[in-house]
Amino acid sequence: MAFYGILAKVRPHDSMAVRGPVWHGSRATCLPDVSIIVPVLNEAPLIRPFLRHLRARAPGAEIIVADGGSSDGTVDLASGFYDQLVHSERSRAMQMNAGARVARGDVLWFVHADAELPRGCLDEIAQILHQATVVGGYFRIRLPQGPVYRLTDGFAHYAGILLRMRCGDHGLFCRSTVFQDIGGFPEVPLMEDVEFFRRLRSCGRVVHSDKRILVSPRRYEAIGRVRLTFAYGFIATLYVFGVPLPKLASIYKRACGDAPVADPNRMATRRDRRPENQCMTNKTDSVHSISLSLNDMGVLNQLMHGAATGFLTLTQMVALAESPNPTMKAIVVHEYGGPEVLKYEDAPKPEPKEDQILVRVMAAGVNPVDEASRSQKYAKFFGITLPFIPGYDIAGVVEKIGAKITRFRTGDPVYAYLSLKDGGGYAEYAVATEVEAAPKPQSITFGEAAGVPVVALTAWQALIDTAKLSAGQTVLIHGGSGGVGTFAVQIAKARGAKVIATASTANQDLLKQLGADVAIDYTKQKFEDVAKDVDVVLDSVGKDTLARSYGVVKKGGFIVTLVARIDQGELDKHSIRGASLGVEPNSSQLTEIGKLIDEKKIKVVVSQTFPLSEAMKAQQQVATGHTRGKIVLRVAEEPK
Ligand SMILES: NC(=O)c1ccc[n+]([C@@H]2O[C@H](COP(=O)([O-])OP(=O)(O)OC[C@H]3O[C@@H](n4cnc5c(N)ncnc54)[C@H](OP(=O)(O)O)[C@@H]3O)[C@@H](O)[C@H]2O)c1
Repeated sequence: MAFYGILAKVRPHDSMAVRGPVWHGSRATCLPDVSIIVPVLNEAPLIRPFLRHLRARAPGAEIIVADGGSSDGTVDLASGFYDQLVHSERSRAMQMNAGARVARGDVLWFVHADAELPRGCLDEIAQILHQATVVGGYFRIRLPQGPVYRLTDGFAHYAGILLRMRCGDHGLFCRSTVFQDIGGFPEVPLMEDVEFFRRLRSCGRVVHSDKRILVSPRRYEAIGRVRLTFAYGFIATLYVFGVPLPKLASIYKRACGDAPVADPNRMATRRDRRPENQCMTNKTDSVHSISLSLNDMGVLNQLMHGAATGFLTLTQMVALAESPNPTMKAIVVHEYGGPEVLKYEDAPKPEPKEDQILVRVMAAGVNPVDEASRSQKYAKFFGITLPFIPGYDIAGVVEKIGAKITRFRTGDPVYAYLSLKDGGGYAEYAVATEVEAAPKPQSITFGEAAGVPVVALTAWQALIDTAKLSAGQTVLIHGGSGGVGTFAVQIAKARGAKVIATASTANQDLLKQLGADVAIDYTKQKFEDVAKDVDVVLDSVGKDTLARSYGVVKKGGFIVTLVARIDQGELDKHSIRGASLGVEPNSSQLTEIGKLIDEKKIKVVVSQTFPLSEAMKAQQQVATGHTRGKIVLRVAEEPK
């Protein structure tokens, strides 16, 4: 092959290491030109000692640092220690491919910055690639500490051989011509190593070396050995039972997409940069200060480590690991239109601003206004621009807080009405301000809590803030069985008012259960025949219903509509007052409503729950205009 017996190209750092033949027993062979590609992302504490180590263990090899957008000074620290630097998008596969594109070597070797290479590694590669039928190979990986790691190491290795797969780009090498033939690493968010290995094997033999690359167990140390081992074990077990890789990738992403571990954007501290902390084998200081990557060792390689020891439930797995480029599942609208424009897909996970909290959403409420946001007219009115994530009601757990947040802490259960402009509720994560969020009522589930904010605030602001409903007054509530209506009836009752409410035949029982004093079946009876001289009307129906309502209000009374412009002429004619309402986020009101819920003065009626992926169906139901109580999207499993 071309690389045997060819003198190395002289590069800035290998002037004293021009390669010539080396001897292996009785057989002479020459070292190939090897390009070592090191994908990095915020590796400031490790990068220098690692590159020095690389030079010492692989003298003469071309070193290419492939940066995925480090923000901690990694690139500056690496300067002078590499032969080439390439930048690419933050994705391990893309970084490695970018490195491979500029590589001059006949052999490409992919190594991560937390590794310790075996002595004589280039000799080993030369030996393995000596046979023309061999297209590539890999070094075995070892986690250095403890018998459990040893055991899982062994298990991972032999399971890999048995299953004819290799997981972990860490330590993989191959001929550069073959790398090009198979198109490099597939640029997928996860499992690119497994697919790459499969393609490599289809081109020829792939041989492993028994020499070990020592790899930092930083993920295990940062997250917890048992915790992470069990998490990986669960997914590995699914793999063994034949769950397809794309499905596994999506489960892994969903379950382990975010972790309370190192912040990849954090600058390395001065302490991190101290020479004594820059030793690769001195892991304890660096473990918590570096960006941890999903693919540090290759996901399935770690999964197999985990499979040696056990199982874990999905809910326990949440927040175990982080992705270098975090995404989440969400409903995204890319174009205006009907419910078919609601697409369930991956979207960037939001990052809270200094006045925001990041909420891990458990459930999201569905409202008629969500449908309106899909139309260009209303989107423009609300200030929404494409693409966007709809949804204004959320209930979940605070995952992260901005610097200016004082009223919430990580782990707090909250519910919120997100502003119409920003929305973002139909997603695994959403951001909210302190004005938008309040503590979740303790006595209800997240699913129920997600059905509260928009409609309960609307009822509150209509009856209490706007119409100033007081004890002893009579209120007529149209659409008493809907989202707004169910809260309006109960808020009015809690206020001490007499309640007359309208709904269709099927919902008469609900009106009574909610506490309405008089229930009117609008399909059988004209409401004005029953409701006369009321103090307040709350209209959520509009048109004819609103037009006929002016006449039932007593002089000096109040009519508030949610769906139309109030007719000043009608108000004057009847000597009444009135207003149209646009609901606003209000944290203190949401807190008050939460107290009434916990005091059992208000119950939440959720008639249907859909998984997030079926948001389209949920909106179609709401669009009928005949929803009983609330429709909610389930985004994650309720915590026990
Ligand atoms: N302006 C704002 O800030 C604001 C805020 C929230 C909501 N809204 C608007 O208010 C309206 C109601 O919202 P929502 O969330 O309560 O909707 P919803 O959950 O869909 O409830 C609609 C209710 O209206 C009842 N209904 C339908 N036709 C009726 C009629 N002719 N007479 C009496 N009741 C009738 C239905 O009961 P049956 O099934 O028994 O017919 C249903 O329960 C929507 O148009 C929404 O956009 C506005």
